[in-house]
Amino acid sequence: MRWPLPALLAWCAAWALYALCRTAGLTSLQAVFAGAALGAAAAWLADSGWRRLFVAGGFPLSFVASGLAADLPAWAWLAALMLLVSLYPRGRWGDAPLFPTPRGALHTLERSAPLRAGARILDAGCGLGAGLRELHAAYPNAQLQGVEWSWPLWLVCAARCRFASIRRADLWAADWSGYDMVYLFQRPESMLRAARKAALEMAPGSWLVSLEFEVPSSSPRAVLRSEGGREVFLYQLPFAQAPARCMPTPCRGVPRPPPEGASNCLRGGRATVAQACITPPLRARSAAPSRP
Ligand SMILES: C[S@@+](CC[C@H](N)C(=O)[O-])C[C@H]1O[C@@H](n2cnc3c(N)ncnc32)[C@H](O)[C@@H]1O
Repeated sequence: MRWPLPALLAWCAAWALYALCRTAGLTSLQAVFAGAALGAAAAWLADSGWRRLFVAGGFPLSFVASGLAADLPAWAWLAALMLLVSLYPRGRWGDAPLFPTPRGALHTLERSAPLRAGARILDAGCGLGAGLRELHAAYPNAQLQGVEWSWPLWLVCAARCRFASIRRADLWAADWSGYDMVYLFQRPESMLRAARKAALEMAPGSWLVSLEFEVPSSSPRAVLRSEGGREVFLYQLPFAQAPARCMPTPCRGVPRPPPEGASNCLRGGRATVAQACITPPLRARSAAPSRP
């Protein structure tokens, strides 16, 4: 079905179910719950994360916008707020919210980054487990682990990914040593921090793999392009330095002005904010950085 027809049909079906429930004598809250559940179920049929969000969010949003939401009891608003906060906890607002790895995004990963059977792979910030499932498909004989900060996401991920071991923990506090590969789908602003952590903790020869976002100061060993046009950046430890054409995106250190000519440079077709930080360079555990 051509997009956005599936979304329109799902929203209409949710509203129809809401009206039916109200006619049958259910309370407004019960009817909303039924409509929202139908929208959420229909969302799984959409073929990308964004589309799922649109399909699932359409009915609740239009319900709130319609003014009918005034009928809801106060505790229902509080419960919605609590759910939102537990999905995206305060204290992690500087980190990435939930966006699942698209299906098939890692299907050629094993060719560029082969791992021995029993290798240990960590999905740092594993969300609902979409990334872990892709990693499992790429490396069926690997030991997969995930860390996730949000309680509800951690619980759902553990239920969905029985093949992996899932912990509720902060990915920045987790120890990355001992992993043959750490997979990330975070934010551009997190990449320098992630690279620094990987360089300090991970062994030479291990891999840092990032969906969508590259390490600003380093050359990837390979860049894979998935069907949906997403890029997967593969870095093998120790990091290789990139030519200093572009500067990293802003970080939390002390900002310093960009060198002349560094502003608005293009990386992979995207303009980067040319603000650097006074921070020590990436240090590898053993060997000095070399070009691939
Ligand atoms: C873009 S999603 C990626 C989810 C999963 N890796 C995937 O690819 O399907 C980022 C996830 O990282 C989690 N996250 C963000 N900051 C975190 C932190 N400091 N510690 C643990 N998890 C974190 C978020 O809750 C979210 O589920």
